[in-house]
Amino acid sequence: MISKEEAKKRIEWLRKEIRRHDYLYYVLNKPEISDAEYDKLMRELQELEEMYPDLITPDSPTQRVGAPPAKEFKTVTHLKPMLSLDNAFKEEEMRKFDERIRKELGKEKISYVAEPKLDGLSVELVYENGVFVRGSTRGDGINGEDVTENLKTIRAVPLRLREANGVPSRLAVRGEVIMHIKDFEELNKKLIERGEEPLANPRNAAAGSLRRLDPKETAERPLDIFFYEIMVAEGVKVETQWDALHYLREWGLKTNPLIRKCEGIDEVIEFYKEMVEKREDLSYEIDGIVVKVNDLADQERLGTKARSPRWAIAYKFPPREKITQIMDIIVQVGRTGILTPVALLKPVDVSGVTVSRATLHNEDYIKEKDIRIGDWVKIARAGDVIPEVLESIKERRTGQEREFRMPDKCPICGSHVVREGAYYRCTGGLSCLAQLKRSITHYASKGAMDIEGLGPKIVDLLVDTGLVKRISDLYKLRKIDLLRLPGFADKAAQNLLDSIEKSKERSLDRFIYALGIPNVGEHMAKVLAEHFKTLDALMNAKEFELLSIHEVGPETARSVYNFFREERNREEIERLREVGVKATFSRMEKKEGILKGKVFVFTGALKEFTRSEAKRIVEELGGTVASSVSRNVDYVVVGENPGSKYDKAKKLGIKMINEEEFKKLIGRA
Ligand code: IVH
Repeated sequence: MISKEEAKKRIEWLRKEIRRHDYLYYVLNKPEISDAEYDKLMRELQELEEMYPDLITPDSPTQRVGAPPAKEFKTVTHLKPMLSLDNAFKEEEMRKFDERIRKELGKEKISYVAEPKLDGLSVELVYENGVFVRGSTRGDGINGEDVTENLKTIRAVPLRLREANGVPSRLAVRGEVIMHIKDFEELNKKLIERGEEPLANPRNAAAGSLRRLDPKETAERPLDIFFYEIMVAEGVKVETQWDALHYLREWGLKTNPLIRKCEGIDEVIEFYKEMVEKREDLSYEIDGIVVKVNDLADQERLGTKARSPRWAIAYKFPPREKITQIMDIIVQVGRTGILTPVALLKPVDVSGVTVSRATLHNEDYIKEKDIRIGDWVKIARAGDVIPEVLESIKERRTGQEREFRMPDKCPICGSHVVREGAYYRCTGGLSCLAQLKRSITHYASKGAMDIEGLGPKIVDLLVDTGLVKRISDLYKLRKIDLLRLPGFADKAAQNLLDSIEKSKERSLDRFIYALGIPNVGEHMAKVLAEHFKTLDALMNAKEFELLSIHEVGPETARSVYNFFREERNREEIERLREVGVKATFSRMEKKEGILKGKVFVFTGALKEFTRSEAKRIVEELGGTVASSVSRNVDYVVVGENPGSKYDKAKKLGIKMINEEEFKKLIGRA
């Protein structure tokens, strides 16, 4: 048996050798030995470590899988906020971006770094004295999930950095975990064979794989990673993004080989065009390019907005189009009775999402594009969200296609349909079940009366069983009624009744919004509440009075006026008051106490509030605002360009939230 002394030496040599081969293979893409030879080195190391377990170190190449399954992921605060990027889709927007930066920096030409935008999952990795100690998902940008053990299973993640010209004492880097398309397809095949659901696209597959609670399962998933950003590098001075990418590579952190330094925006646009072509040949998915100002001092000068830097932008590829067939065109009835034609499609995957419906907007759109039932059509996800039918392919017509006509009766309630400009509207009002259901859902929604637990499914149930025929019926529901409905246990029923009861106390502005008056959104509802102070005053307002309010235009004035002239609306409001809905105007009453006793500190600029506004809101809600961070502080709200309070809060482990979360807390999200 080999002596401990000798084993130690051999172990050290083996680890170094294995790391060198990892670097050659993953970073330089130039392996010097075969897989079999590599495995032999690994086996030898394993055997020696088994012989002398106390020689095992956490950064040994054998220590990639080993941690037991976790119950849940711990939350970790990133060393620096992980920002996201603004998007551009057109050359023109890119030129504007460049113009703005040139102006701000007073330079004629900007040096940029352009990189492929990898479609994966963004992660932060922290190395201390060269050893990988912590990795996390982006989460909300401030806090993420601790996925250290899972990241360790990715072979392209070095457990120890290469000591090229020294390593930073502390290094935080950002990268993208991806799954190659071929691996994704194989994984899906396996899942289907096992009778499990296949994954929608490589990005979901990467995210799902990284977020397994059992690192052994992550280890079985073929994940890869590219690094693209140094967030913290203590003890190393980095001057440009281009240098940063080279440092990363030197340390053994793989960067994308397609990155390019571009002098001026024309070269960026050239790079984009090349990537549009190149995209098809890559083994992984990219959805655009990321363009960053190269000089880090310039980046600093440009600064960041709340969630995204001013010095970088994502220049996205045009959405991928797909071709499919329209099986039928149906008509949906919205909350205000507007009929929208919707195409039912043979399901297809469009950039990762299965699409089986697409909006056709209105009758004119269908006519203009000559879209017929049975047509083969090009579809795309507009701005990557709502699917849309772009055009019909006339060459594929067989003669069996049928033209679509808007119905003259509402498909839900049979009431007359009238034409208003480009739209058709059902005249059934709340006697139309479609409108009723949508109105109730709106009434109960977050910004309105905020009735927790009253989503579209429950509303369907309540209306379809005839328990609720109008909004005010909600307040007459009894537990015994709810218990008869499928899926309602005692607790759920009580919770729903409690939240309905609570809604009686909602403020006037919420109530006005909840009524669903056309053209009256959340903001307009506040304006009206502020001006009229009581519901009666608003209900009896003349059109000219409405018009005299700053921010109220003629369309809104007319629509508000007409709404309250409608007898059935007035009656329903009366019924709501009878059952106890107060709808009183009072700032204090409306939200008093939800932040009672909570201490806030603000650092950095907020997008939507000035400091004094934010302070006033917190105080109105019963909280206080402190000027410096101490252990007594409950929340630190982190805005754009946070200052030293951010670091202090981190040190003390105080909860940090971003503007979005702050808005949620104060009920304005
Ligand atoms: S830089 C402040 N570089 O795109 C800098 N992001 O839409 C922020 N992404 O959340 C990121 N490839 O997940 C950067 N080469 C790249 C990237 C990249 C992909 C992702 C990243 C980010 C998202 C923003």
